[in-house]
Amino acid sequence: MPPNDSAWKAVPEMCRAAFADWDKAVVGLAEELMSILCEGMGIKSDKLKEELCLERRLSLSHYYPQCPQPELILGLTSHTDPCVLTVLVQNEVGGLLQIKCGEDWVNVDPVPGAIVINIGDLLQIMSNDEYKSVEHRVLANTEEGVRVSIAVLFTPSNLEKIYGPFPELISDEKPSVYNDFIYSEFIRRFEN
Ligand code: OGA
Ligand code: NI
Repeated sequence: MPPNDSAWKAVPEMCRAAFADWDKAVVGLAEELMSILCEGMGIKSDKLKEELCLERRLSLSHYYPQCPQPELILGLTSHTDPCVLTVLVQNEVGGLLQIKCGEDWVNVDPVPGAIVINIGDLLQIMSNDEYKSVEHRVLANTEEGVRVSIAVLFTPSNLEKIYGPFPELISDEKPSVYNDFIYSEFIRRFEN
């Protein structure tokens, strides 16, 4: 959902208005969260907004049908999200979404009304490792019923912009952990 883009036409007309409302609410939530996360880093609260991290959203809607032969299925394999922040809602079919805590996989079971927030790779980089992106996966669905989840990934809107750790977070005690890079180069490497 890039700003001012025809992407909206790809959303079926019958749910476009509802989707626009949802998108607006998610952007509002992400704005608030990003400002709190900036405060947590000790930098000015609108820094992530200023870095164009609120404008471009990737909306991924997942449908995991019940699977009769789960041993043949990988599910959504272990990954971290290649974005700044992810906002995710899931339906009531639990036991499938997991995050890695140390060596263990831990279930993120649905809680009515709860929203799952993932730190993405770009926020890990920009925060110079103050925040860590979360490794997660979705197992093949052996449960009764269908699992549905809707994820919104916040990514920078300017592909040619240079990203790296915020200078405010680099010091002699904590040198930069990452080199600066052009965002499109990051995407190219992720896709390869
Ligand atoms: C994703 C993702 C998990 C889910 O879209 O990146 O991790 O619960 N989705 O579907
Ligand atoms: Ni993910």
